[in-house]
Amino acid sequence: MNIKTIGVVGAGTMGTGIAQVAAMKGYNVILRDIKMEYVESSVTKMAKLLDKSVKKERITEIQKNDALDRITKTDKLEDFKDADLIIEAVLENMDLKKSIFSELNGICKEDTIFATNTSSMSVTEIASASGRPDRFCGIHFFNPVPVMKLVEVIYGMDSSKKTIEMALEFSLSLGKTPVEVKKDSPGFIVNRLLIPYMNEAARLLEEGVASVEDIDTAVKLGLNYPMGPFQMFDFGGIDLSVIISEYFRDEFNDLGYAPQLILKQMIRAGKTGMKCGEGFYKYE
Ligand code: CAA
Repeated sequence: MNIKTIGVVGAGTMGTGIAQVAAMKGYNVILRDIKMEYVESSVTKMAKLLDKSVKKERITEIQKNDALDRITKTDKLEDFKDADLIIEAVLENMDLKKSIFSELNGICKEDTIFATNTSSMSVTEIASASGRPDRFCGIHFFNPVPVMKLVEVIYGMDSSKKTIEMALEFSLSLGKTPVEVKKDSPGFIVNRLLIPYMNEAARLLEEGVASVEDIDTAVKLGLNYPMGPFQMFDFGGIDLSVIISEYFRDEFNDLGYAPQLILKQMIRAGKTGMKCGEGFYKYE
């Protein structure tokens, strides 16, 4: 594997986590968002987390500074021209993802590998717009990226063996445990299981079977999950879970996947979770 420079498209929660982990493992990282202020804020968040690790004596001040020095901030896709691997972590919007990769195909080197961090959408469809479907795959991280050990490596219909091997090796080099998703299917493994379970929790709530707090307590103490489903809704964003549920409904042509009404009402009320200060719970 000859990967030295990673381009991360999107400096939101996932892009920030991916950039942080890659920089800590010695990769040069180019982090791009549409506005420099988003990238600045992303690197400030990273610096805060790394400061905590220094205080806990998990890393040294020098390691922290070296990692931050390896990150180049930009708002231009052109700055990815020397990247060896691109990981896209923008909003779950198929057209947006396709247009980014289509543009990158004209900017990047012939042998640059493209990967999407989509949590549920078709890797094959995104790859089809990239002009290099053989050098394309899914590399799906979990939130919070610095903590979660899993990476799903997803085969697009035309992903080459070499591309998949590179993605597996790269994931291992970040200290993650990759699993292979050999068939491109909505939600892959984890979200295929997680999203219907969360939607079912919303159904329990709508039916008045139990409260938000008691459903969360039941799952945490009865299944030993670190978070209950409503804590998870707030953590990942209710809006994102609705997008994924609707995607499943449409892709599988099965109304059983349709998001519960309460979730849509929460979004209409502007209560999408932690990021906006309120979801099923309130945050300071
Ligand atoms: N970024 C980086 N590190 C974080 C973090 C964040 N956002 N949040 C917590 N951490 C770190 C803390 O610094 C702490 O590290 P140390 O052990 O080194 O001190 C560690 O995680 C534990 O944190 P806390 O003690 O503050 O809190 P906790 O014990 O309640 O754990 C949690 C927090 C790790 C988030 C835990 O609640 C958890 O594992 N939740 C489930 C997360 C999960 O299921 N993620 C997958 C979501 S699905 C998904 O990601 C799919 C998708 O497509 C979007």
